[in-house]
Amino acid sequence: MRERDEGRGMSRRRMLGIGGALGLMAATGLSTAAALARRPSITGAELRSAVPLPPPFQVPLPIPLALTPVSTAGGTDRYEITQREASAEILPGIRTPLWTYEGTFPGPTIESRRGRPVTVTHRNELPVPTVVHLHGGRTPPTSDGYPTDFVLPEGWHDATLHGSAHGMHDPRAVVSKLTRDYTFPLDQRPTLLWYHDHRMDFTAPAIWRGLAGLHIVRDDAEDALGMPEGPRELPLMIADRAFAADGTLAYPALDPTLRERPGVHEPYLAGVLGDVILVNGAPWPVHEVDTARYRLRVLNASNARHYELEAVTDDGRRLDLVQIGADQGLLAAPITHQTLPIAPAERYDVIIDFSGIPVGGRVRLVNRLGSGRTRDVMAFDVARHVTDDSRIPGTLSTDLPTWRRTDAVSVRDFSFRAGRMHGGHGWLIGGLPFDPARADVTTHLGDVEVWRLIADVHHPVHLHLVGFRVLSRSGRPPLPHDAGLKDTISLRPGEAAEIITRFDGYRGRYLFHCHNAEHEDMAMMANIEIS
Ligand code: C2O
Ligand code: CU
Ligand code: CU
Repeated sequence: MRERDEGRGMSRRRMLGIGGALGLMAATGLSTAAALARRPSITGAELRSAVPLPPPFQVPLPIPLALTPVSTAGGTDRYEITQREASAEILPGIRTPLWTYEGTFPGPTIESRRGRPVTVTHRNELPVPTVVHLHGGRTPPTSDGYPTDFVLPEGWHDATLHGSAHGMHDPRAVVSKLTRDYTFPLDQRPTLLWYHDHRMDFTAPAIWRGLAGLHIVRDDAEDALGMPEGPRELPLMIADRAFAADGTLAYPALDPTLRERPGVHEPYLAGVLGDVILVNGAPWPVHEVDTARYRLRVLNASNARHYELEAVTDDGRRLDLVQIGADQGLLAAPITHQTLPIAPAERYDVIIDFSGIPVGGRVRLVNRLGSGRTRDVMAFDVARHVTDDSRIPGTLSTDLPTWRRTDAVSVRDFSFRAGRMHGGHGWLIGGLPFDPARADVTTHLGDVEVWRLIADVHHPVHLHLVGFRVLSRSGRPPLPHDAGLKDTISLRPGEAAEIITRFDGYRGRYLFHCHNAEHEDMAMMANIEIS
């Protein structure tokens, strides 16, 4: 297990050292080649499961069920989700206790139409406070899942109401008891969103235990394009996990109750990786397909693991991955990739064509960044010969924003680096740990801004509320997979990137943060105040 050794063997001092050196190099403009030579290939350390792992491609790919609204009256779809403990047979023959939305992992999928509002009443029957965030949603601040806007479980003591080991008190927090209504206008481009826990200091272990689900937004224009649909549209939530000897999910939490003390044991400060790759909650699953095009809506819901996806046939041929969409919806035109890197929280909408594969053939989706068991992701078994009338139009959308540098009223710089906080290890933005009371960015509704982001190790940087476009990477044009409208950008070690966005939609307090969930919990978040 090469990755594990690298991750584990990296002492904190060495990790900080690498971060510092890379940051310095980037800031002083040393050559990319010099930075590349020192790039750590992985950010995080791998946990190893203590149970025997099943062979790959045995378990059928589950498709999370669509949630039925409790009401569709008055132009709003209303849903109810209970957050509760449940268990599932993830590895064959082994029961794994989970924290779930509505009893399953992934949670139920919410299917929406653009501009048709959705209200979800979440009920917290878990033993800890929770917070729901719809990732990629253009959502008013009161429903955006600010990390201190807790939904408290029954009987949670007031003393820990604003509970944070760092003693933070957030007077602006809106705390609810037991239930909370989240309202999502969904007045936004159609795309795959996902909802997940966002509790202050405890997001990473909560997602790891199962608090994640999909939310798809569609519209008539997209439906009319003639792309693969129905059973030929597959959501793929990819997430790594590790299993303890008793079947529970292993996680190196300092406080396994997740009630008081946040954080992970030292070897995992850079991120927690698992040795089992789950797709829609199943280990290395297999799915039977027709000789036809399929639309794969891929989400990396892992805490820290990056993937570089590739579709390979039995005889070693690579199938094209035709990207049609990014985090925030359709591209202007399709882009053909051979491999597709995906960082935590990123989504890619991809079409893959199985029509050239003989019935009985297999196509494996592999992760070129993995090794050993983590190299496999899932497989598609070609089972039926059909004629396919789907298509991939040359023009997919014409409504992508075209902000230019000259539109920007501010240019801001943010570093994403390791550092010290509260006497321990932290991950900092602009040298500072997260503080709910500090407005890191103050902007006005409608302002266009350019942000320059610079990283020491891998940091997938996510902005709430808005989509952005990538302007450059380390002074060069963006990469092919940076196309379209994004809400998460994968910064690689030593890399600087420029993004441009317009703060549009709602006034209020929003977040931006690293979506390596362990970094996020170790203070790599900041506030955007839109007035
Ligand atoms: Cu997916 Cu603030 O998060
Ligand atoms: Cu988000
Ligand atoms: Cu990070």
